[in-house]
Amino acid sequence: MTTRRDFLALASTTVPLLRPGAAALAEPFARDDRAPAAIASDEDAWVEVQRAYTVDRSILNLNNGGVCPAPRIVQEALRRYQEHAQEAPAYVLWRLQDPEKETVRAGLAGLFGRDPEEIAITRNASEALENVQLGLALERGDEVVTTDQDYPRMLTTWRQRERRDGIVLRQVELPVPVEDDAAVVSAFEAAITPRTKVIHLCHVINLTGQILPVKRVVALARPRGIDVVVDGAHAFGHLDFRHDAVDCDFYGTSLHKFLSAPHGTGMLFVRKERLRDVWPLMAAGPELDGDVRKFEEIGTHSVGVRLAIAEAIAFHLGIGPARKEARLRFLRDRWAKRVAGMANIRLWTSLAPGRSTGVALVEVLGVPAVKLQEHLWLKHRIYTVAIEHARFRGIRVSPHVCTTVHEVDRFGDALEKVAREGLPS
Ligand SMILES: Cc1ncc(COP(=O)(O)O)c(C=O)c1O
Repeated sequence: MTTRRDFLALASTTVPLLRPGAAALAEPFARDDRAPAAIASDEDAWVEVQRAYTVDRSILNLNNGGVCPAPRIVQEALRRYQEHAQEAPAYVLWRLQDPEKETVRAGLAGLFGRDPEEIAITRNASEALENVQLGLALERGDEVVTTDQDYPRMLTTWRQRERRDGIVLRQVELPVPVEDDAAVVSAFEAAITPRTKVIHLCHVINLTGQILPVKRVVALARPRGIDVVVDGAHAFGHLDFRHDAVDCDFYGTSLHKFLSAPHGTGMLFVRKERLRDVWPLMAAGPELDGDVRKFEEIGTHSVGVRLAIAEAIAFHLGIGPARKEARLRFLRDRWAKRVAGMANIRLWTSLAPGRSTGVALVEVLGVPAVKLQEHLWLKHRIYTVAIEHARFRGIRVSPHVCTTVHEVDRFGDALEKVAREGLPS
């Protein structure tokens, strides 16, 4: 596992990373050698992390799955970089700041457990994934297999290829929740035909927090010459994993979700041997054909947004990925286990170890999801998101490391009251 010390050592051998303010990094567990699960439930241990954010606690934001806040040190770094760029934009952006992206690339590669030459910094998960979805050579009649729970924009992207290039998109239905990985593998296996060229799936399904057995799907696909494109938007910075746990050739993720990097950041991993197989979304010259930087040829942009990812990585490593994962699951369990046994509560997320993340989907039977979401917001100022899928529904609840136990309990109280008494008329 990359530690914060490794990351800083690496940074100091490339280009200067630390700026004034970086000394204020939260490293709250430096002298705490308890197991992550023990730390996860010790509220006092999380105070420094909670205070590192500038969130508005007059409302309770339980939609961090949409996009996360960044801690103060990330916000400050971003501000510094952007102010600096205003001094002499062409000089500062292109001569001073742009080369420092390499430190961020190295940091992301360290987190993902791969070579920096396989990591592109993008504006979000959509851009990362669309580079691959639109950049792989596919012919009329070629088939792409995905699920009925993939992200709408990613499905739209494949559907545009259907209209434009005549490919065929097949969507398999996965059980909700998945309690058995074999069911996922067989669902994909059953959809494979001689024309299947790509399988596209989430590492973590955003609707339910379900973790999918990506590595087993890759093991199914690779011997058949099928590419696997993995949407890691909800997994990266949330689960403590490295590339060898998924083993795919293509992985795209947001960084502005659970990594807490600035808004407008994402990452694309392409295995080195596959770089030449993917055309970038925005054109690059032939000299970049085999260079991962071809995915970054997007014209003038704020380099500071990207450089401040380095602070988010340092903050993430300061907490420790395993401790963070355990804490997010602890917060989920805190409210979910409390209501799980109630007759009219339906959890669409498995609480079994290793099956899901800190995100969960809950339905109060007989209460429309949108009405429940509205009630929580209007009556309690608790912000969640209503999910209406053809096969399941509810409110999605996604705390972050800035969320306190007191806040999660406030949500638990409100949910339990609706489950007992229904919505007020
Ligand atoms: C599973 C999944 N994929 C892709 C995306 C798109 O992410 P971004 O907004 O960073 O492009 C999201 C966003 O919520 C998501 O949940």
